[in-house]
Amino acid sequence: MLTNLYGKDFITTEDWSIEELNSMLEMAADLKRRFACGEPHDHILRAKTLFMLFFEESTRTRNSFESGITQLGGHAIYLTPSATQVGHGENAKDTGMVLERYGHGIAVRDCRTNIGQAYMYELAKYVNIPVISMQDDVDHPCQSMADLMTICEKFGHNLRGLKFVISWTYAPKYVRPLSVPQALIMLMTRFGMDVTLAHPKGFELMPKCLEAARRHAAENGTKFEVVDSMDAACEGADIVYAKSWGPIMVTEDPKEVQAMCDQHKDWICDERRMGLAKKQAIYMHCMPIDRGYEATDAVVDGPQSVIYDEAENRLHVQKALMALTMGGRI
Ligand code: CP
Repeated sequence: MLTNLYGKDFITTEDWSIEELNSMLEMAADLKRRFACGEPHDHILRAKTLFMLFFEESTRTRNSFESGITQLGGHAIYLTPSATQVGHGENAKDTGMVLERYGHGIAVRDCRTNIGQAYMYELAKYVNIPVISMQDDVDHPCQSMADLMTICEKFGHNLRGLKFVISWTYAPKYVRPLSVPQALIMLMTRFGMDVTLAHPKGFELMPKCLEAARRHAAENGTKFEVVDSMDAACEGADIVYAKSWGPIMVTEDPKEVQAMCDQHKDWICDERRMGLAKKQAIYMHCMPIDRGYEATDAVVDGPQSVIYDEAENRLHVQKALMALTMGGRI
């Protein structure tokens, strides 16, 4: 395990080597064990503060970071643009350089297309404490690391040759960002899995993320393919990760988005589709799930579903991340 990660930003998994990411997984497993057996570990970040700036709402991310740092002995402060001067236009430099005088880490969720991740790199340019992405327009690195931890728990650490499917599904109501599927194709191709991305025309991901996935596959001896059939993708899969995202590369206009989504209402993860996957296949989703649209209750609540394990592992990987980047040797 590497122990030299103090102060390192975690804006995307792309900025961390495989060895560094494995160190996070290793630390997460240790902290999970300690949490399960009630072994105190509240000295690790005692009296340390994480500022959490949310441009969008959250259930899992906010609560796992907040309870995670409490368990490590520190404290989290929940911020939004309207609860700070960010909403009045205070820039990233001024916000960051003030917050770093008070605390030990800044975490941000900002999914605005072509703005979110750039805002985090702008912060990171000026502050010396770690900047952590809690999801942006490009990546959701804490989610994909929790998903990777879950897959390792189910299949072991040699993931070579597993077929990992990330498929688009239909969902109404609002435009979901691209960051989860992008995070998954960029990370899983580095960890031995053969990745299949499935979506209808118009729901493409950002070219730079597709390029990263292709490069990782070539460098790591894995496969990366893009198909336009959910059935074909699910055939022989070991992992079926099925979720909705918006046609953001084409439009973010809510009416146009709805019209495009409505053409593909049959893209749902149901028992028939899980039946196309391997017998031991697992069903994954980052949550929140639009039940009855993205997946049937039978799948979400069925024996192949690992969604609550994924949500739990958010806590453990984020505690590991904070311990490694905000803790430090005695
Ligand atoms: N998966 C996830 O990030 O959930 P929240 O939006 O509830 O944080």
